[in-house]
Amino acid sequence: MSPCRVYIETYGCQMNEYDSSMIASMLTGAGYTLATGPEGADVVIVNTCSVRERAEVRVLGRLRHLRGLAPPDAVIGAVGCVAQRMGEDLFASVRGLDFVVGTDRYALLPDVIERARSGNATAEIEVDPDENYASRTTPSSAGLRDFVSVMRGCNNFCSYCIVPYVRGRERSLPADLVIGEVRALVDLGMRDVTLLGQNVNSYDDNGLDFAGLLERIDCVGGLERIRFATSHPKDLSPRLIRAVADLDKVCEHVHLPVQSGSNDVLGRMNRRYTREHYMDLIAMLRDAVPDAAITTDIIAGFPGEAHGQFEETLSLMREVRFDSAFMFRYSVREGTRAAEFDDDVPEHEKIRRLEEIIALQQSITTEINTGLVGSSVEVLVEGPSQRDPSRLFGRTRTGKAVVLTRAGRSTDDLEPPPGRLAGAVVTEASAWTLHARLRAGEKDLAGPSVGC
Ligand code: 5AD
Ligand code: SF4
Repeated sequence: MSPCRVYIETYGCQMNEYDSSMIASMLTGAGYTLATGPEGADVVIVNTCSVRERAEVRVLGRLRHLRGLAPPDAVIGAVGCVAQRMGEDLFASVRGLDFVVGTDRYALLPDVIERARSGNATAEIEVDPDENYASRTTPSSAGLRDFVSVMRGCNNFCSYCIVPYVRGRERSLPADLVIGEVRALVDLGMRDVTLLGQNVNSYDDNGLDFAGLLERIDCVGGLERIRFATSHPKDLSPRLIRAVADLDKVCEHVHLPVQSGSNDVLGRMNRRYTREHYMDLIAMLRDAVPDAAITTDIIAGFPGEAHGQFEETLSLMREVRFDSAFMFRYSVREGTRAAEFDDDVPEHEKIRRLEEIIALQQSITTEINTGLVGSSVEVLVEGPSQRDPSRLFGRTRTGKAVVLTRAGRSTDDLEPPPGRLAGAVVTEASAWTLHARLRAGEKDLAGPSVGC
């Protein structure tokens, strides 16, 4: 019998991308092969996101659509946050759905799929506060950049957020396992790792904190760059800021979601820091790492956000000058505390405020990137640019996308292969991309990094 083919489609955050690759490696380990589309699959898995209502509606629509695209005898299942949140109710929302598996139950997938293939639809959504998939952290891809989960869950209960309800309480993965996974990925060619957790600052492996974990990962030979997401401003420690400043491989890029510039709104969001504390952190970061890129998340139109409070967000954005931001309009999530608040900001006003912050951020990003023209950057070359294969594509240490032209004499041997660091000078910039010219004779800025 030919092996069972599984197609996995992923929505939402980096943690979901990581989970999908973990599910893929678990299933291939159990004898499945991966399909590239639903048409030729025996099993279709959709990893779902419920952070905002629109994401959830979209994913439900996609599940219904996939039922029509997959072969009639294929089984279709939902995993991830919507699966965790809705459980068995999903069967009523999506006709023809065969299984539902929550965020702590992925180890049961091979069994659940077999049951579904023999006609028994099941939902497995029990919460397991100890499940951290420690025994299943197997490398997934052979790309240059990858994610590695260092902790799961969240204890913060920001009043608008569904994540603590669908992903459960915080749990850290043992450092040895994280390092083992990073090493295995480096052996497969990975050079740039993003360490993932809802709040990496709370990482704790028997007293080893996140800065300590970074120190250990910094020693992995062959790895060039370390990033992490996400830091909560209430507990970004001076020790972590020092680690960003001092450790060679830790990139000068911190994602620090601010959500709002108004203390009143931050209070009702249960963020447990003030605008002043946030600005102090930015000053400390800029002092320790002057060229750090700082990125953020912002919510527009939180319930009760007065116009003046929205303007405080605009003024904070002008003061900080974020390199980029993920910006959202508030979306009510049933079961969260903010769902009980009176929401006097009409939908059209939320949209208008969101458009205003997007326009402001775009102009700030353009200004920052334009200010880089003429400066030297270190680029991790990923391969030919998709838009123009005669050029190369890569990223700076601060995570900015770069399209590279060759240095004058365009002979092939001037071209750094994927996975190499190259020196380049920025020639042009927009809000989305830097254009840069490879510096002649500097095809490899450095040889592969060594361990400690
Ligand atoms: N509405 C809008 N944005 C939200 N986020 C989380 N929950 C909501 C919500 N209910 C945003 C926050 C968070 C990011 C991952 O998603 O900005 O940092
Ligand atoms: Fe949600 Fe707040 Fe936890 Fe982030 S820190 S996942 S916004 S509850």
